[in-house]
Amino acid sequence: MQLTPKEQALLAGESGPAAQKAMQILATLGRIFGAQRMIPVRSVQIAGVSYDNLGEAGLAWLSEMAAGGGQVQVFTTLNPAGMDIENYQSLGISEDFAENQRRVLAAFEAMGVVSTCSCTPYLFGNLPHFGEHIAWAESSAVCYANAVLGARTNREGGPSALAAALTGCTPAYGYHLAENRQPTLHIELTANLHDTPDFGALGKTIGDQLQSVTGNKVPYITGMSDASLENLKSLCASLATFGGVALFHIQGITPEAAQYSPPFETFAINQADLDSAKAELTSAEPGQIDFFSLGCPHLCLGEIQRIAHALAGKHVTKEFWITTSRPIKGMADRMGYTAVIEAAGAKFATDTCCVVAPIKGRFKALATDSAKACYYATAKNHFKTRLLSFDDLIAEATR
Ligand code: F3S
Repeated sequence: MQLTPKEQALLAGESGPAAQKAMQILATLGRIFGAQRMIPVRSVQIAGVSYDNLGEAGLAWLSEMAAGGGQVQVFTTLNPAGMDIENYQSLGISEDFAENQRRVLAAFEAMGVVSTCSCTPYLFGNLPHFGEHIAWAESSAVCYANAVLGARTNREGGPSALAAALTGCTPAYGYHLAENRQPTLHIELTANLHDTPDFGALGKTIGDQLQSVTGNKVPYITGMSDASLENLKSLCASLATFGGVALFHIQGITPEAAQYSPPFETFAINQADLDSAKAELTSAEPGQIDFFSLGCPHLCLGEIQRIAHALAGKHVTKEFWITTSRPIKGMADRMGYTAVIEAAGAKFATDTCCVVAPIKGRFKALATDSAKACYYATAKNHFKTRLLSFDDLIAEATR
């Protein structure tokens, strides 16, 4: 692998031990994946922020990198933490956990990482343009950046994303190269999609089909007439969760699709497939639900407006989390949506989400509109789940 003099200097430790360790990680990755060179990145998004996932070992590594003089070289944002940083008490998060989570954030901030704590950084300032090289780790955001925005990123792990941030580069392999962005299989859709759970169910259905596929997985979807930002972020989260997908194309919708024709190998997906995916994500009866959550991926302002309108004058009967980023919450405050939602008894869980917060054992069954949240609620927290449309969820929560 060819390194520039500047990259060689980093590897030799001339900018300190953290930058040296970062370049060692990237050089090793580059060798493993056959990269010829490094490529500069414009931004980084780091996942693995919740202390619930990191533990002491992860925190120790971050602290070591910060103590070793690590400083980000490009704009770098953070995934959700394990708690609402300003309002964790009302979510039932312990002081012990909060203290450890603050240590994690302090280590990132010492390195110059902006503690946005959101999986939708593209909604408020970390918005790559078409063709821009970036190094992002959050799987749903990686999919959104590659597919919807046409930016170029691999699905980084926590350490490789931090390494890219501390050096400003990443090995040029995978989805940074045009040849790996070509579609590999055709998804022929004959179902009508309406709301976010439909798109989540589509992601699960495609993901399940992809289990038997080896090699690069880049679906090319035909038969979809329209998709909103909310729909696409739901699809991205689900495709990444169930199929490990980091890039897809939708004919007539995503920016690179017009460059390609549908591949020969075809999977057909119809309404019955989507219905069965939704049924598989619904293991709880309405009466069993003790936890409602909207906001996986983090909600955009339009979704919060919709929740405020739906909850106005009503009252939720169970714990109900609205998960979003701090900047979007700020706009919700200004527009009065927060006051309406909180008057209905729902809680903002800003900076965090129902998957990365330490809530195992606190609830038995989650209702959500997110296929990804259903998957992790079961896999991580052993909750039963109900996948509901936005409107049905509000109706059940206020019944
Ligand atoms: Fe985001 Fe948490 Fe879902 S990080 S994509 S809201 S699991």
